[in-house]
Amino acid sequence: GVEKKILVIPGDGIGQEVTAWGQKVLTTIAANFNHTFTFEEGLMGHVAIEATGDPLPDETLQKARSADAILFGAIGHAKYDNDPTLKVRPEQGLLKIRKELGLYANLRPIKLFDELLEASSIKPEILRGADILFFRELTGDVYFGEKKRTEDRNTASDLMIYHRYEVERIARKAYEAARTRRSKLCSVDKANVLEASRLWREVVQEIAKEYPDVETEHMFIDNAAMQLIKDPKRFDVVLTGNLFGDILTDEASQIAGSMGMLASASVGDQVGFYEPIHGSAHDIAGKGIANPLASILSAALMLDISFGLKMESQRVIKAVEATLRQGYRTMDIANKHTVNDFIMGTDAMGAKVLENLN
Ligand code: NAD
Ligand code: IPM
Ligand code: MN
Repeated sequence: GVEKKILVIPGDGIGQEVTAWGQKVLTTIAANFNHTFTFEEGLMGHVAIEATGDPLPDETLQKARSADAILFGAIGHAKYDNDPTLKVRPEQGLLKIRKELGLYANLRPIKLFDELLEASSIKPEILRGADILFFRELTGDVYFGEKKRTEDRNTASDLMIYHRYEVERIARKAYEAARTRRSKLCSVDKANVLEASRLWREVVQEIAKEYPDVETEHMFIDNAAMQLIKDPKRFDVVLTGNLFGDILTDEASQIAGSMGMLASASVGDQVGFYEPIHGSAHDIAGKGIANPLASILSAALMLDISFGLKMESQRVIKAVEATLRQGYRTMDIANKHTVNDFIMGTDAMGAKVLENLN
């Protein structure tokens, strides 16, 4: 077996509730396949601010740099959402760790389990067979451009900025992935208005020439938001910037049934970082009802992408599938049209997945 050191950063709210199950799945896989996974824990977000005053303490960053992979939950607290004047914020921790670790490519697979065809707000016949892989650029854009506020506090700006190399490197990753799928790539931007998007489109057009076997399409973000719901099956790989990717993937979560189903992998120069796309979900935090499958599927991505353990990764996905086939559901993925589901909380659902792993 292999030996791996995994840093677990549960974070805030439901981050803590669901990450416990991502970790348990990794522990079970290690035992079943004779691997040695050792776990360390790190603080980030509101819990880190409370403990140290810093949303990303140096200690966490050091642990991250020396880990083989990182499993992250979510950060965020209502206190900061309700008071935009607060200077130190949980989200700064997440943005900083992405930048520091060079995690420029955020892969967000939208895979609909057949068992959840009836869980979405979208009609089953529109959804059946949908399978999209988003490449969201993660360390540039308006997220990281210069922020300003005038002295009188009445004017504010965030600079949307991209450099050629930032577009090139993620475009290449997305094209490589498209080749292993249906060889279609849709690049999403706002090049009819934004200069940063015109650079984006220019660069993608150039990289496209290196991949003549992949069919390239360019789409404006407003149209893409519409097409995603109208006909999700038309998409294979979607390549887009940080902000557009953030918004489009929350929308796309409805194709998979729920935010609670969407896992992600952030990769780049060094260590891989695995996290659900959802946040700390104040509305359900502490109630024990959050869907743990996004965290569990993030663990599956870690096994595959960071460790090259494809069989183990497939085992996790199969266990999730089996659990759904048995009718077990958290509230967010309850069938909208029948009453045959067994609706349960986070821990019961996680335990079912573990049973199905054995
Ligand atoms: P959210 O993703 O936390 O929640 C959006 C909605 O989806 C809520 O109704 C929530 O109950 C539901 N939901 C999310 N995950 C779920 C799960 N696993 N199971 C069942 N339902 C789930 O987004 P929000 O409410 O806009 O933000 C809440 C806080 O989280 C904010 O402070 C925000 O900054 C933060 N946030 C953090 C991350 C992250 O850590 N990666 C991502 C998004 C938002
Ligand atoms: C996400 C989140 C983050 C983002 C926030 C919390 C900084 O929404 O991971 O999707 O916007 O990237
Ligand atoms: Mn988001």
